[in-house]
Amino acid sequence: KILQRAIAKYSPSISECTEMESIHGLLISLFGTAVKSAFPNLPDAPVVITLSGNNVKFGDYQCNSAMPISNMLKQSGTKVAPRDVANEILKHLPSHQLIEKLDVAGPGFINIFLNRTYGLSRLSTIFSHGVQPPKLEHPIKTIVDFSSPNIAKEMHVGHLRSTIIGDSIARLLEYLGYPVLRLNHVGDWGTQFGMLIAHLKDKFPDYLEKSPPIEDLQAFYKEAKVQFDNDEEFKKRAYASVVQLQSFEKDHVKAWKMICDVSRKEFQKIYDRLGINLQERGESFYQKHMEEIVKELDSKGYLEEDEGRKILWADAPGNGSIPMTIVKSDGGFTYDTSDVAAIKHRIEQEKANWIIYVTDAGQATHFQLLFKCAEKIGIVDRKKHRLDHVGFGVVLGEDKKKFKTRSGDTVRLVDLLDEGLRRALEKLEEKDRHKVLTKEELEKAQTSVAYGCIKYADLSHSYNHEYVFSFDKMLEDKGNTAVYLLYAYTRIKSIARNANFTAEGIKEMSKEHSISLDHEKEWKLGKVLLRFPEVLLKIAKDLYLHCLCEYLYEVSTAFTEFYDSCYCIEKDSSGDIVKINHGRILLSEATALVMEKCFHILGLNPVEKM
Ligand code: ARG
Repeated sequence: KILQRAIAKYSPSISECTEMESIHGLLISLFGTAVKSAFPNLPDAPVVITLSGNNVKFGDYQCNSAMPISNMLKQSGTKVAPRDVANEILKHLPSHQLIEKLDVAGPGFINIFLNRTYGLSRLSTIFSHGVQPPKLEHPIKTIVDFSSPNIAKEMHVGHLRSTIIGDSIARLLEYLGYPVLRLNHVGDWGTQFGMLIAHLKDKFPDYLEKSPPIEDLQAFYKEAKVQFDNDEEFKKRAYASVVQLQSFEKDHVKAWKMICDVSRKEFQKIYDRLGINLQERGESFYQKHMEEIVKELDSKGYLEEDEGRKILWADAPGNGSIPMTIVKSDGGFTYDTSDVAAIKHRIEQEKANWIIYVTDAGQATHFQLLFKCAEKIGIVDRKKHRLDHVGFGVVLGEDKKKFKTRSGDTVRLVDLLDEGLRRALEKLEEKDRHKVLTKEELEKAQTSVAYGCIKYADLSHSYNHEYVFSFDKMLEDKGNTAVYLLYAYTRIKSIARNANFTAEGIKEMSKEHSISLDHEKEWKLGKVLLRFPEVLLKIAKDLYLHCLCEYLYEVSTAFTEFYDSCYCIEKDSSGDIVKINHGRILLSEATALVMEKCFHILGLNPVEKM
């Protein structure tokens, strides 16, 4: 009975398919059912499904549960050889059209061979329904807190990394159907504002009537800092200004807004160029919430006095544990306070079930403490709420030292993007593209390559490592780089174009012909494309975007292998088309469509001609 129900559940008729689905997920369900009914006494028996690797002999996927199950049985006193365990699993496996063939190899590996008809039906959904994401049972409300530069201080490469990684995580989750709120937690409320406002009043006493010329906010910040460090009287006024600001005194708020606006405009320029969409909700937003939560924590007895400060312990004091500082000795709030208030607001008001913070790895301790404290004070329930800190490594210059300009200053992001544009154009000209493309096409290719290579270099490295920022490396046209992949994409797109098919024409073609998967290399490429959903689902779990870059590279390599051995269009000696292989053109287009989705998630804008 269980078996019949399972079969019904796992076997939709092929014509009902509307999306590619996670084959890995499906195999886990099928083998999970089999393991459960074969070994009902081992409820914790592991269901391990992996890719088989490159040898076709071992099938496409493998179930490696037999060995651990045999061990578990042994521990409970029954001796069953792993091969027999494997055969027992097979006996209980619900049948499914996904599976072509199964065999048991070596000490009990189950090799799983996929069925082409099934693969074809799933791949065909690309033309009937578009590249649809796998359906999620419970998409949960998610907040991605990323970019988050500080007002009046410079937005540096670290913030660029946060911007790129955060945007891509948000894009992935949005594509998978999660409701995502993208928040820019800008540092717009620290003590630096006292200093800035006091300096503004000194230098531009008429600031309320005439907007002050402080475009170069960083220089202005430096001046203010010098005053602050050298002039006791100024320092006092600066502190007084913070207090005034935090109690929302009108003129102080006005000055603060002016200062924030200058930075905001600068940040926005970067976001516009990189196509980043996010909502500003900085520390200042939480002022009232901070006042409230401090009262609440105090009354509930969570805060401890410590030399005038009020602190909150996540763990028992001692053993190297550190507390959060909730109120400073001068009564002011801190970064910690704003994050405690923010997490409360996000969970209770925004109803988020998942919050992802993207910052440099240096803040890992801060977020560990935050998560623990939030749990301790009853805001977060780990059974309902998922919290992640995506902490990335520092960006280094080619000299392997902290990324700086030659004169030792922080690199301005606009300058960096400009250099990217310049270098991308050089690269295109090196390949004589300016002779083939129209001015407009060239410009499009240039921006695509410039911003694409900066983003891709960042995303294709596992983010917990530091990484070396090098335009030379990024712009290489071999290996797993944006340039290589963007080129590969244009080449694929040109196949249908050269055979005079428009997008409409391809759609029509897909109604009459089906994707060709007969040739060994076609089927190999098809199987890589079929893995798209499971790759996405895995990344939604661990947030390792470099896996998507690796996948994209694998798609393009599998395509090259296919294209090297399979003609899509045959021409005669005079260059006239004599034969069109429709099934292969469709396979090429399906490849391009899957690549487009990958590019989209990574925030790259591929162009058709380059
Ligand atoms: N402004 C901070 C920085 O520049 C990052 C803020 C990250 N978000 C947060 N909720 N703490 O390092």
